[in-house]
Amino acid sequence: MNTGGAAPGAPLLVEKFLIHGNDFEHGGDVAAQVKALLKQLGVSPDTVRRLSIANFEAEMNVIMYALDGEFVLQVFADAIRVTLTDRGPGIPNIELAMQEGWSTATPEMRARGFGAGLGLPNIKRNSDEFEINSTVGSGTTLRYGIYLR
Ligand SMILES: Nc1ncnc2c1ncn2[C@@H]1O[C@H](COP(=O)(O)OP(=O)(O)O)[C@@H](O)[C@H]1O
Ligand SMILES: [Mg+2]
Repeated sequence: MNTGGAAPGAPLLVEKFLIHGNDFEHGGDVAAQVKALLKQLGVSPDTVRRLSIANFEAEMNVIMYALDGEFVLQVFADAIRVTLTDRGPGIPNIELAMQEGWSTATPEMRARGFGAGLGLPNIKRNSDEFEINSTVGSGTTLRYGIYLR
């Protein structure tokens, strides 16, 4: 498919959002903005739901564990993809971090209802593509996407 002269395979829409570490006050704002945008674009309710679950978990992980992050939404003709790059401590053991129930959340975070250790597994479960890369002492890059019919 060629869309208005854009390069084949190029995103139809790109939106960037900044997320600040420890900013619980605005926790979920990016996921909410993206949800509204996807609805506006006419994305199916099931896709919006799955992506919103993933987006919220990814956003909260930056707020809880990183200094800051850049959330990039790319809408393609056949998929929606998110790349979230953060500056932070990184994840020493990704296999462990991907396990359900494993969390380094502080007692304060748990008191806010976070720290069930289900965020990363839920992002993976709700995505068709999933990739996580992390460098200890530098940061984490999370990529996930959902295919459109
Ligand atoms: N962006 C990140 N930077 C550093 N560590 C992270 C990041 N995201 C997740 N982690 C680590 O992976 C663990 C598991 O994450 P997750 O599955 O979302 O569960 P939870 O957030 O409830 O702890 C976290 O407790 C944390 O140790
Ligand atoms: Mg989490």
